[in-house]
Amino acid sequence: MRYRTSLAIPLVTALLAPALGLADTVILSAIKDNTLYEPVLQDAFALMSDGIGPTMFAGKVKDAKNQANQVAVRRALLEFDIAGNVPAGASIDSVQLTLTCDKVGQNTNFEVRLHRALAEWGEGTSDTGNSRQGRGEPATPGDATWQHTIYPSQLWTNLGGDYATTASGTKPVGPVGNYVWGSSSGLVADVQTWLDAPSQNHGWVIVADESVIQTTKRFATRENATIASRPKLVVNYTPATVTGACCDGSSCSLTAPGACGGVYQGDGSSCSPNPCFVATGACCANDASCTEASQATCEGGGGIYQGDSTTCSATECPLVLTKYLDPLPIPPVATPTSGTPGGTATYDFAIKESKATLHSELPQTTVWGFDDGTHGAGFLGPTIEARTGQPVTVNWINDLRVFETQQLRTSHYLDVDTCVPDAVNDARVVFHLHGGHVPAAVDGYPESTIPPGPTPVPYLYPNNQQAGFLWYHDHALGMTRLNVYMGLAGLYYMRDSVEDALNLPTGSNELPLILQDRRFNPDGSFRYPAEWEDHVFGDKILVNGRVWPYLEVAKGKYRFRIVNGSTSRVYTLALLPPSGVLTFTVIGNELGLLPAPVNGVSELTIAPGERYDVVVNFAGLATNDTVLLQNSAGAPFPTGPVDLSDVMQFRVTAAAGDTDPLPAALRPVVPLDPGSAVATRDFLLKRSGLDDCGRQQWLIDGLGWHDITEHVALGTTEIWRFINDSGTSHPMHMHLVAFQVLDRDGFTTGPGGEIVPNGSPQLPPAEERGWKDTALVGPNEILRVIARFEDYMGNYPYHCHILEHEDNEMMRQFVVPEPAAISMLASGAVLVALLARRRARRASH
Ligand code: C2O
Ligand code: CU
Ligand code: CU
Repeated sequence: MRYRTSLAIPLVTALLAPALGLADTVILSAIKDNTLYEPVLQDAFALMSDGIGPTMFAGKVKDAKNQANQVAVRRALLEFDIAGNVPAGASIDSVQLTLTCDKVGQNTNFEVRLHRALAEWGEGTSDTGNSRQGRGEPATPGDATWQHTIYPSQLWTNLGGDYATTASGTKPVGPVGNYVWGSSSGLVADVQTWLDAPSQNHGWVIVADESVIQTTKRFATRENATIASRPKLVVNYTPATVTGACCDGSSCSLTAPGACGGVYQGDGSSCSPNPCFVATGACCANDASCTEASQATCEGGGGIYQGDSTTCSATECPLVLTKYLDPLPIPPVATPTSGTPGGTATYDFAIKESKATLHSELPQTTVWGFDDGTHGAGFLGPTIEARTGQPVTVNWINDLRVFETQQLRTSHYLDVDTCVPDAVNDARVVFHLHGGHVPAAVDGYPESTIPPGPTPVPYLYPNNQQAGFLWYHDHALGMTRLNVYMGLAGLYYMRDSVEDALNLPTGSNELPLILQDRRFNPDGSFRYPAEWEDHVFGDKILVNGRVWPYLEVAKGKYRFRIVNGSTSRVYTLALLPPSGVLTFTVIGNELGLLPAPVNGVSELTIAPGERYDVVVNFAGLATNDTVLLQNSAGAPFPTGPVDLSDVMQFRVTAAAGDTDPLPAALRPVVPLDPGSAVATRDFLLKRSGLDDCGRQQWLIDGLGWHDITEHVALGTTEIWRFINDSGTSHPMHMHLVAFQVLDRDGFTTGPGGEIVPNGSPQLPPAEERGWKDTALVGPNEILRVIARFEDYMGNYPYHCHILEHEDNEMMRQFVVPEPAAISMLASGAVLVALLARRRARRASH
């Protein structure tokens, strides 16, 4: 239906219909008219017509000349040119046909009906003039007759004309006068049809009452001398304005060009199909849900647009958590089962799976941690306070149970990638005291894992070392990254009387900051890739097991024991006060204090496994000042993007803090003499080798964990050169020993693959000139460290502390053999073979 109903148009129809302009009216004159005369036998002129005559007839007559009272029917034909006068696309609103009746058989009202003609007919030159109108004139070529649509060759299907059975309009006509066939749906439909399909426009057949005689009415034709009497068709219509598709973002509507608030697609353009292409992409909501939307829609709804053409299936939407909402938790000091904390003591540490809140907006996370029997298990473990010379025993128990069922675990919580060498999908663990100078039997040898079960494994730590900042963590071969990710780490402070005497900030002014990054699923669970990846970075930073915490600080000094417990992430830390400058004073490295405080350290780079002992003085800040601990390290370090810059916030309270001065001297660090080194070993760090899934591994000298080639004589000093022939940094860690960083140098690789140092080694910065167990070697850099191998024998790991590298398979072992074994080796074939292998390897570099 093209015509418009005038009222109560449903909104949808209104929107979908072409836009319409202002209503208009045309008054049309007929383009053709004629009369069909039913032949009468006696009539000599059976085929009558009245093409250009001034009148036309409708009705049944009694032929005046026919004495037998034979009757005949007259029907008029009338056509208007609609399509030529009403614009295409218009909607016909109403029509009125006015005919002037100028002669009647009798004044009685008879119905005169308009029927749509179904065939094209003609108007010739026959002309009754003012005579014989009742009987017509002989048809001329082109005329319509009772038989012909167009005389003499074309015929009606039905004698007397073909027309629609149902009348489109009806009007009683009585005496002479003007008669209007007012708008009816039939007439409107006829005119609309003729407008839309001009070839179907054959006008109307005008039929009067033919049921009785003498119903005849005579009407003026278009040729009538009285112009006012000629047939006239008034057509009221509403024109279609020019419209086109209008794009507002990706939504399309049809508008006139001037009415388009967006981008007009051109006259006649359509919204189906929608031409308004707007790039869409994945849109992440704060709750980590993903939708695909345009950038405008996404950002309008508070989402984070991931870029054009990104898809939800390929997008991992992060949970958005409010920063600095939760206070920094401080791990409790572990309670021993016997002895005293800070002295000789025995601890029972059960590893348990539990649910922990790692941010108050985050659902609880399934975590692993250590339960000392007093504090319960959570994420990470309690802090062991130990003292030089006072041994500590920890009974490690692997009590990992599936939280929901409390059944001992037979598989890992996270996906285990078994292409990583020696990785097994179970819940094996082993405990390593990182920084501990301990016998090999309690070092947490990566193969000495213990499965979930009731039997405690006692490790006796002799604490035969000076005050330092140790930490314990899992070390299971091929699975360390997964176990640590779940939470298997904790702190171990070694203290002694030298340090005690220095009056460093203590108690609530001495706090650990355990830096870790993690990724979460929307349900709060940890998200770690199922397949091994070179580096794994979280999108949230946790300090002491809380995402983006804050710490209220008094106006004074704090001693922060910072450990990077992340798997891959290196941090370059800086303090951002509201105004002015705030720096770190570095007082110690992993395994002891520096000779003197290093003041004014504005940036402190700390790699996985490294620790820094720092003092920060908030005394100069105002109450309510906030200080941001900020990270500016690229991930991976150093060339990757800085993807996570906020770490935590300090809020300065009105309270007065520790304002005692720091001592000018801390603890002498006697440099190890390179001249005393009995050996220099080179370790080439390079991506090489393939794991069981054909992925490149990180190897040291092209060898892995099971290739044992390094034998170090007990009681000797050695220099180890870590040569980083890769594009990323590696924090290299040695078990058993405390080392000193000698220097770092660049190098070039000769044509035969030989390493040629630049010869301009740089001393480590002052804040790194203490006792360390982990040190960073940058891309294309040679790191030289020096260490003494004392007290204990056996197999000890050395490795990159990026846990993803360590697991696959940037970890090897050195052996400090029994003295007897050394002489045996020295004389035996084993050593010969090993040396040959090593030479061969070197040669191939
Ligand atoms: Cu902190 Cu062998 O590791
Ligand atoms: Cu270690
Ligand atoms: Cu590495």
